[in-house]
Amino acid sequence: MIHDPQARLWLLSTPSSGYAVRLGPGDAPCNAHWGPRLTIEQARALPPDREELPSEGGGRFGPASLQIRYGDAVRGVEWRHLGHEHTAGPDPDTGHLAIRMADRHYPLEITLHYRVRPGSDAIERWTRLRNAGAEPITVLRCDSAAWTVPAREDYRMTHVVGDWGREFQLRRGPVPEAETTLTSRRGHSGHQVNPWLMLDAGDATEDHGDVWSAALAWSGSWRMTLDRDQDGRAGWTGGFGHEGLTWRLGPGEELETPVFTGVYAPDGFGGASRRWHDHIRRHVLPAPERPRPVIYNSWEATEFDISETQQMELAERAARAGVELFVMDDAWFGGRTSEHAGLGDWWPNPGRFPNGLTPLIDHVRGLGMRFGLWVEPESVNPDSDLHRAHPEWVLSQPNRARTEVRHQLLLDFSRSDVAEWAHARLDELLTGNDISFLKWDMNRPVTEAGDDVWIPYIRNVYAVMDRLRADHPDLLIEGCAAGGGRADLGMLARTDQIWTSDNTDALQRVAIQHGYTHVYPACTMGAWVTDSPNRITGRLSPVRYRFHVAMAGALGLGGDLRSWSEDDLAQAADLVALYKRIRPVVHGGDLYRLGDCAVQYTRGPETVVFVWQPSALRRATAPVLLKALDPDGLYRDEDTGAVHHGAVLMSHGLPRPLPFDAMSELVRLTRVPRP
Ligand code: GLA
Repeated sequence: MIHDPQARLWLLSTPSSGYAVRLGPGDAPCNAHWGPRLTIEQARALPPDREELPSEGGGRFGPASLQIRYGDAVRGVEWRHLGHEHTAGPDPDTGHLAIRMADRHYPLEITLHYRVRPGSDAIERWTRLRNAGAEPITVLRCDSAAWTVPAREDYRMTHVVGDWGREFQLRRGPVPEAETTLTSRRGHSGHQVNPWLMLDAGDATEDHGDVWSAALAWSGSWRMTLDRDQDGRAGWTGGFGHEGLTWRLGPGEELETPVFTGVYAPDGFGGASRRWHDHIRRHVLPAPERPRPVIYNSWEATEFDISETQQMELAERAARAGVELFVMDDAWFGGRTSEHAGLGDWWPNPGRFPNGLTPLIDHVRGLGMRFGLWVEPESVNPDSDLHRAHPEWVLSQPNRARTEVRHQLLLDFSRSDVAEWAHARLDELLTGNDISFLKWDMNRPVTEAGDDVWIPYIRNVYAVMDRLRADHPDLLIEGCAAGGGRADLGMLARTDQIWTSDNTDALQRVAIQHGYTHVYPACTMGAWVTDSPNRITGRLSPVRYRFHVAMAGALGLGGDLRSWSEDDLAQAADLVALYKRIRPVVHGGDLYRLGDCAVQYTRGPETVVFVWQPSALRRATAPVLLKALDPDGLYRDEDTGAVHHGAVLMSHGLPRPLPFDAMSELVRLTRVPRP
């Protein structure tokens, strides 16, 4: 970080980007630059542009990042600069900058935080408010950051939309001269729209052009407002909470927002995605170095109808296929034999597991696998012992009906006694049993919550997860909310992977994975191979195709393996073995999208390419041109032994992108020395 006090300028630099903040008229902190790296001399030439955290009031008419009401009903912020602190990181560009501001009249302190991490192109930003006075202050909105992109003739937005079973559908379109709001009011980050967006000038491609993007590290409700004003300029503000929530900041109290991370890429959408993957793998995930095991999950095979012997049988089949961790999903606990009962009673169902979980876990361990369990700690069925003992723990409001979704209510996780209870129950399960993995689900949105619930609820979910991880260092957590309803940088900071979608139809999954990996890395993308016909779509697809799609993420098996033929099981075992060989490349490599239906992962000398037929009727006829190889390099196909020139692979493509009789192909290439 370089500070120029005369120019009232701070310049942050990452390996390929620069970010400049400059105080404008009346001390307002403004963006001066977000784009390629600049020298301090170049940055000095740029005037303060749009504000870093626009407040309402004065001559501002755009969406406010900050809306404050003081005790006397006066609103807004008039900026006064107090100073700054910089904590240096391991090299001169990295570290944490805090620009300290206050209101000119009222005792409100506002700190704008910026962080640059080693080797990452991400700028992490957040805001902290402090009431330094004796009267309460009402916060009507406090965003983490507003992001400004330079003036361009036009803009285009990229984001993902969806629903249960069709999460992460990519959308790219013009930015209207209006305010466009992406939001979740559901208390989780949401299936409908995920908390990230990308902006370009309408000219970026997969490999070329400027792309500005940002993703919010928050797993509750949130809002991002993209504003394109009358001058055609665009930028966005975003943070936690949906509109209409207010917070009371008592004397001496502070409010800190989640991190809103921005990434600028000079090399197209592919470049933006790779920078996100890199940043998340290095600086967000709690245990990036740990290989994601091949899991088996019993949900699609059994739903609520489970027993000890049936789980043991499934485990035997899973072990034969090479699975490394067996996960028993829903219905192992309390009186949970359907959606109607049992949530909240986190002990083994005595009818189903008369001797507890130990016999099953021993069996699984004896088969050489680790063991995992499904839990949904935030939920409770009215028909449960927990609800009978603590009806007051339910999230509800006086004089308001309690909304049930899937016959369940939520616990008020903003209460410390509820969070303590959840931690104690889960800790007991993990301490008393040999459990290496929790699938932490949340199958319903938040309803009947007061203003004071939304933020502490999520913070307590985070705190319970963080504490469990700290006390059980080998624990892996999979984040889930009825599929991919809670995938975000906040969840990824305390989980190892996300259950991407309940839709396991391989063909539809290609589109879901395409959207998911625009920001989130493949090592976090839980992907199961399930039965054919698919349980949701009824589609038939070959084992190889189902595997080739799931092998592009964190592979799992999720079908009823008891019904698989010997031939299918043998194919599964071969494909799992192959996956284990390519896993370091898929999970640790650079991802290149080769159109919509092919993906390349490259790590050092190794490259793995997946090609999927786009639909049962449309054959992939376009050549699959590889990327980022050395044109002068030689690459050996590990299956055929053929050696290809990098230049030819990049200009003419794979010689056999999709054999005539195949719906998919997996090509493994290794760079070999010239003879
Ligand atoms: C959610 C999850 C599923 C499964 C069920 C169990 O829908 O997304 O994978 O765990 O809950 O009830």
